[in-house]
Amino acid sequence: MSLLIVSCSLNPASRSAQLAQVALEDCRATGGQAELIALGPLNLPVCDGDGVYNHAAVEAMAKKICAAKGIILAMPVYNYDVNAAAKNLVELTGEAWTGKVVGFICAAGAPGSYMSVMPFANSLMLDFRCVIAPRFVYATTQEFADEQLAEDGDLRRRLRGLTRDVAAFAEALDGITG
Ligand SMILES: Cc1cc2nc3c(=O)[nH]c(=O)nc-3n(C[C@H](O)[C@H](O)[C@H](O)COP(=O)(O)O)c2cc1C
Repeated sequence: MSLLIVSCSLNPASRSAQLAQVALEDCRATGGQAELIALGPLNLPVCDGDGVYNHAAVEAMAKKICAAKGIILAMPVYNYDVNAAAKNLVELTGEAWTGKVVGFICAAGAPGSYMSVMPFANSLMLDFRCVIAPRFVYATTQEFADEQLAEDGDLRRRLRGLTRDVAAFAEALDGITG
């Protein structure tokens, strides 16, 4: 089952990028096929709803999304929402998301923004009939000791649960959603 993990933070010292890397290792450790793409180096243009769809990097990303059975988005929470780069990715690649199983990994400053990912989830569900894995990982700054992810803490267990669920949902729903 091929999973695509997209690291959406543009911060070089990103915590969600660390979580994306662990998710990649978890997928591979269980024999799954997975690819990790970081949005930062791609320099995707901002969506203008017009000519931007012909941009080579946008077309390449849309193809990656189309080919994936399940997608895990690792995202920062900014201003009680996912960061603009994550939303921009969906704006740029819209229909490519149709019927995908999608899981979320969120890095946030504090617990109070736990529900902030829901408008983004609603758009994926209602606009593109995505199946959102109900278990998502929400990690606050306090869970990173010295900016590093603790080796065998609860966050590692939650990440394994997420990657397992997304792979299982994607396999079970293969050919059914869309
Ligand atoms: C512009 C900005 C807005 C933020 N807004 C929120 C917020 O609404 N809720 C929250 O819990 N954390 C907020 N944070 C904290 C980030 O979610 C936190 O630093 C997280 O680690 C960012 O993800 P990253 O490390 O993967 O880049 C904000 C940070 C920035 C820079």
